[in-house]
Amino acid sequence: MGEIAAVILAAGQGTRMRSALPKVLHTVAGIPMVMWSVRRARELGAEPIVLVVGKGAEAVKEAVGGGVLYAFQAERLGTGHAALQARELLQGKTAAVLVLYGDMPLLRLDTLERLVSLHKERKPAITLLSVESEDSMGFGRVVRDEAGRVTAIVEEAVATRDVLALRELNCGVYCFDGEWLWQHLPEVPATQPKGERYLTDTVALAVAGGRCVDVLTISGVAEVQGINTRVHLARCERIARERVAERLMLEGVTLIDPATVYVDESVRLGRDTVIYPNTHLQGDTIVGESCVLGPNTIVRDTTIGDSCRVVASVLEGATLEDEVSVGPFGHLREGAHLGRGVHMGNFGEVKNSYLGPGTKMGHVSYIGDAQVGADVNVGAGTITCNFDGVRKHRTTIGAGAFLGSGTMLVAPVSVGRGAMVGAGSVVTRDVPDETLAYGVPARPKRRLDEAEPDDGE
Ligand code: UD1
Ligand code: MG
Repeated sequence: MGEIAAVILAAGQGTRMRSALPKVLHTVAGIPMVMWSVRRARELGAEPIVLVVGKGAEAVKEAVGGGVLYAFQAERLGTGHAALQARELLQGKTAAVLVLYGDMPLLRLDTLERLVSLHKERKPAITLLSVESEDSMGFGRVVRDEAGRVTAIVEEAVATRDVLALRELNCGVYCFDGEWLWQHLPEVPATQPKGERYLTDTVALAVAGGRCVDVLTISGVAEVQGINTRVHLARCERIARERVAERLMLEGVTLIDPATVYVDESVRLGRDTVIYPNTHLQGDTIVGESCVLGPNTIVRDTTIGDSCRVVASVLEGATLEDEVSVGPFGHLREGAHLGRGVHMGNFGEVKNSYLGPGTKMGHVSYIGDAQVGADVNVGAGTITCNFDGVRKHRTTIGAGAFLGSGTMLVAPVSVGRGAMVGAGSVVTRDVPDETLAYGVPARPKRRLDEAEPDDGE
């Protein structure tokens, strides 16, 4: 038998979210909330991990993907019934079974590790997580006997006044003895009138069978708050973001104002990078050391080298090598790749193009589907006319070329190495290396190493 399996309950409807999207797919710090539970289970080394899904199962499967098993709960008949759906997949497989919810993304790994190690040490039928809190949050109460032993969990809806007064709450997170759970879970009675089976009733069942129930009690409710509404979602988002910010600062990143920096959990940042306010770093983004990002910047799925500067710009699916400077008001789109020391800004846009080291495009330009060599000067207002209405075409600019202001490059077209294009030119034919071209349409006038002809004046 393996050590530990995890069951993540995520078949709830999430009605109060008032959403077309299944509740557990709403994101917290950039990842679907259910993925937080999956991650925690993985970090604990749980295998297999079973996700119990219900309404919206297909969408959940698509978002979560492989690496977990799925159990389907057709009818929402309570947490006990939900866990039971995993029995076929897990019975006889592992010594312990951890049960988590898919809507509790703030649960700390450290808490789960403590729960599991307490369970391994004492070997009870159940080790449950409880929290002391003045606000009951609608949670079930942990009931103990005079000797302090747990005897039952009682749901708020059916609790007597004495039980309601108890301040120890059931978080809904448990570590079970696998063999005991799969044998006894079917014995949990259905409650009336809805016929629901409560996982919490396993506690009284274990006690009645002479088995021990252990408890790990935590003090802060923040990590066990579930998400039921978008108000809860926003609250969790803020806490998750604060945690990411704190981790980044401890890793050596300066956040000028942590409250206005929005960094997904997935993002990696190097030391001595400084983030200015209103900066959003999302998805699969990696940033090197000693960069300055923001203010007012969005970076998604982008790799940034060391010592780069990005101000007031939007970067999506781009790659920046070291010492690149972007902005203000740059837009890098999918496949933009800026070589070392490139500068682009002031209303520039680059898509699916490589700009060689040291190239400058400082003002109001669009470069799309282009290969641009090193040290090219892209004059103000230069445009690659890459779309003929039907298809996209490529532009090639050789190293050291100089494109005058307002150059229109009608692709497919190339400008040779060291060539020079005069301001306002419409380039419809290739310009050879080391050649001056200008005009509408631009035509080669002379080799640049030839003397300028006498114009007769
Ligand atoms: C449950 C506990 C309660 C505890 C609280 C903590 C029970 C009966 N009560 O109450 O003691 O204090 O959690 O948050 O377990 N789910 C399914 N299928 C179902 C029902 C629920 O998958 O048929 C999932 C939900 O998606 C959710 C989780 O189980 O992720 C908990 O369900 P919820 O309805 O929130 O339980 P509570 O009534 O809050
Ligand atoms: Mg709940």
